[in-house]
Formats: sequence, C-alpha cells, structure tokens
Amino acid sequence: MSAVMPSSSTDNAWRELHEAATVPYRKSGSFAWHFARGKLGRDPVFRGLLEHRLVGAQHSRVVDIGCGQGLFASLLASMSTMQKQGRWPSSWHATTHGADYTGIELMPKDVARAEASIGHLQPAPKLVCADMCSAALPDCDLVVILDVLHYVNLEAQEGVLQRVRDALRRGANPQARLLLRVG
Ligand SMILES: C[S@@+](CC[C@H](N)C(=O)[O-])C[C@H]1O[C@@H](n2cnc3c(N)ncnc32)[C@H](O)[C@@H]1O
Repeated sequence: MSAVMPSSSTDNAWRELHEAATVPYRKSGSFAWHFARGKLGRDPVFRGLLEHRLVGAQHSRVVDIGCGQGLFASLLASMSTMQKQGRWPSSWHATTHGADYTGIELMPKDVARAEASIGHLQPAPKLVCADMCSAALPDCDLVVILDVLHYVNLEAQEGVLQRVRDALRRGANPQARLLLRVG
C-alpha cells in the first residue's frame, strides 16, 4: 500500500502535480507549455476536483469532451504516478491508475498539440478530432466537460447531455459521474 502525505502537504503536492502534468508540453513549443502552466496553475477547477474528491479510483474510463490539448489526461497520469510513488495527500481521494482516456476535440490544432505532448502516455490516450454533437461516446465512468457546452445552442446541448447520460448508463458503474462546468 502507498504511503500518504499529511493533508497539510497539499500545497506542496499540488506544486509537484502541476510541474509533472505540464512537463510533457515543453516539447510542443512555447504556446503549449505556457498555456498548460497557466491553465493548470490559475484555473481553480483542476485542484478543486482533487480537493472535493470528485475523481476516484472507480473512474477508470474517462471521456473528456472539448479536451483542448488534453491537460486532464496529463493530470490523471501524473496523479497516478505520484500516488504510486507514495507522495499523495491523505485528504485527496485514491486516484485511478492507467485511466482509459478518450478526449474529444473539435479543433485539429489542439488535437495535434495533444498528440505531440501526451501521445506517449501509457496507456495511450485516445484523442479524437470530432464535434461533440455527433461524436460517438464510449461506455464510461466519468465524463468531464469543462467550459465547452456553451459553444453550442440549447438544443444541441440537450443532445450532448442525453448522449453523455447514455454513455454513463452503458458503463454500468453506480458511481459514474459527469463533471460539468460552464465558466
Ligand atoms: C474553453 S476551452 C476548454 C478546454 C478544456 N476543456 C479545458 O478546460 O482546459 C473549450 C474547448 O472546447 C472545444 N470545442 C468547442 N466546441 C466544440 C464541439 N462542438 N465539439 C468538440 N469540442 C469543442 C474548443 O475547441 C476548445 O478546445
């Protein structure tokens, strides 16, 4: 079993996680690197998901809709590594290892940046260039939609949410979850 850090160490743990999850973007150029560091560092949603224990070991099949350059996949991989190494605060949920991650993103440039940055992760993230309004959604335990749904009209939003519900239902995990934010 992994050792855990006292909860007072969460600031240090978050700094370490931020560093680890953004390192893969360094090789993809200045924009990818600075964007990753800024977004993960300043947008409270990512740390909030940990502090509020919203992502757990039971969420191994993850669909990230409007994934951009795949920051959430990188975060999940770094969370797993830190936990395996025993550097994980006791107040944070045990995390999923080897997540089966599918990112769906409309913009080819973002998908290309994601491939170049996190394509090497194991298991390999599936990065799909597609419109969330029509993309096939695999059976899953966790759907993440951060600041994406408002890009389409209400009717289309309804359609996306119905397909998300169906994908989560097919996943047949009683602890399945949708994490949705419109900032
Ligand atoms: C504000 S960004 C959020 C990116 C990421 N979720 C995050 O929190 O870092 C919104 C993303 O949604 C994507 N997007 C917008 N409309 C989309 C659609 N119809 N299907 C898939 N992705 C879409 C954009 O290209 C962009 O990458």
